[in-house]
Amino acid sequence: MLNGKRILLIVTGGIAAYKTPELVRQLIKAGATVRCVLTRGGAQFVTPLALASVSGDQVYSDLFSLTDEHEMGHINLSREADVVLVAPATANTLAKMAHGLADNLSTTVLLATDKPVLAVPAMNVRMWEHAATKSNIAMLRARGVTMIGPDEGEMACGEWGEGRMAEPEDIVLALSSFFGSTAPLGGYSAIVTSGPTHEPIDPVRYIANRSSGKQGHAIAQALKELGARVTLISGPVDLPDPQGVKVIHVQSARDMATAVEGALPADIAVCAAAVADWRVDNQAPQKLKKGIDGMPSLSMVENPDILAALSRPGERRPQLVVGFAAETENVLEHARAKLAKKGCDWICANDVSPSTGTFGGDQNTVQLVTRTSVEDWPSQSKFHVAKQLATRIAAHLGAQKFAHKPGEAS
Ligand code: C5P
Repeated sequence: MLNGKRILLIVTGGIAAYKTPELVRQLIKAGATVRCVLTRGGAQFVTPLALASVSGDQVYSDLFSLTDEHEMGHINLSREADVVLVAPATANTLAKMAHGLADNLSTTVLLATDKPVLAVPAMNVRMWEHAATKSNIAMLRARGVTMIGPDEGEMACGEWGEGRMAEPEDIVLALSSFFGSTAPLGGYSAIVTSGPTHEPIDPVRYIANRSSGKQGHAIAQALKELGARVTLISGPVDLPDPQGVKVIHVQSARDMATAVEGALPADIAVCAAAVADWRVDNQAPQKLKKGIDGMPSLSMVENPDILAALSRPGERRPQLVVGFAAETENVLEHARAKLAKKGCDWICANDVSPSTGTFGGDQNTVQLVTRTSVEDWPSQSKFHVAKQLATRIAAHLGAQKFAHKPGEAS
């Protein structure tokens, strides 16, 4: 969520300023670029050199510096960022912000900016609880400033209470969800199924398929990157969990169906898992023994169809249900039939004949079949298929926004 975002960090004069190099480091690790403004008070607790070293940029401090103004005027400084983050925000700076004072570079930037402002208050508990601070905070909130924290805990001064600056990782999370709420899929929730299922024969043997989970996992990641809150329900795969996504690991189709049911309601469902159509009905409680049990005879029974169940009309039906049709012949024909039979909205049809290398491979060629159209997508990496699908979903839901709000079933 923070990838490519430009953050102007204003560090004001509280003891918590010593944590800001770590905050900058974490923001940069998350993909953001950070430019710092340091007040004279802030410089008592953290050096410009420390912030310059971690941010990889010069630190701005002086409103009347000819060189700074020449290189980056304070108006530009306030406008070229995506957000302005004040951390720590002292009671004094919050008061100045509330009353529109502009007596140093940081408050001038805050008055001049046309970008969202997030403040991370940090002060002694009595100062935080003071009526003046309370009214300043209320005024700033009413004006659209987002407050992150403060936390409760032991203060540098030895007192206990509310007023500690939020920890750097919590600030990063809060910023991510701030950007998430403005992202194309911000406010939407999604369920993605991925990978194969394992259908046990006995406690050590199972029936499986060659699905790697690469496509499903990439879709979960891509939806998350567009701001959706994603639950990924994954069969056994050899892949790391995508970051920032809630992952539920399952084995069998029945486990997957239960997990999907438990993850509802959701606005979007993408069923990319290669769910086994059948399971062994006469699963052995103990390991089958060659020579003792003889040749096993497996009796099979049909698994629940997760995609069809999700697509069934009703209050909990996601607004958009997308299935996959992995076929080895007559791909389009089968995809159209599947769309009608399962009742989903879209089918991503793909040829998984061994010659295509799709199953387990990194490339995929998809045709997106909707009820009214067929789109031929180029042959591309599964990562790019995921991005294209997530963007297509965002465009579709964006166009429907006036008909349906996030969280509302169709
Ligand atoms: O019927 P078939 O397995 O070809 O359908 C493929 C689509 O249905 C995929 O989206 C897959 O995730 C989904 N599916 C399912 N539950 C099943 C079988 C398939 O969700 N039991």
